[in-house]
Amino acid sequence: MNVDELKKAAAEAALSYVENGMIVGVGTGSTANHFIDLLGGIKSRIDGAVASSEASANRLRKHGIPVLELNDVGQLPLYVDGADEATRQLHLIKGGGGALTREKIVAGASDHFVCIADESKLVNYLGHFPLPIEVIPMGRSFVARELVKRGGKPVFREGFTTDNGCVILDVQNLEILDPVKMEAELNMIPGIVTVGIFAARPADVLILGTEKGTETITA
Ligand code: A5P
Repeated sequence: MNVDELKKAAAEAALSYVENGMIVGVGTGSTANHFIDLLGGIKSRIDGAVASSEASANRLRKHGIPVLELNDVGQLPLYVDGADEATRQLHLIKGGGGALTREKIVAGASDHFVCIADESKLVNYLGHFPLPIEVIPMGRSFVARELVKRGGKPVFREGFTTDNGCVILDVQNLEILDPVKMEAELNMIPGIVTVGIFAARPADVLILGTEKGTETITA
């Protein structure tokens, strides 16, 4: 199976978490796109979805799935999204697609966070994938200098603006041995909107598409 088929297999397995009448939180990226397409096949069973990006909202609407505002629906029962890296402790790096802030909000507002990925995303330690950080544009240079002081090598994501009108720094060279601590510390730097470490609110379930079938890892 190729990587895309493994992503789709993980997305298919996540469908079993969708219950009748749910409003489902939906993430962003190629794996989440598989989930959206599959959700389209059972759309009559759900009441709608909350999207973590404009791109996902558009894809949901194309399937005829009602897209609701998080502010109007309150707490969600379920959030399904991909990741750039994941550990067996269910800590994640997200934001490769630049949607990390809304993803972290929707994950935080959800009772159950099911992360779906192909097996290549599973790592022993986070940080090989450059850590995406969303930054207020006028603070970009200051934030970059602060990250360098902490041993990081920030790279400005050229030509990219987030759904929130901000920019992204992709930070290489960070040793993320304690994801909860590093997430909290980086969040304290003024100008940072969101750090792509999802550890304070990790996934509850990680479904990996593997050559041998799907593997489900729970907390
Ligand atoms: C989007 O901002 C990201 O957090 C995605 O969830 C992540 O990049 C995974 O993307 P793929 O499913 O395309 O690998």
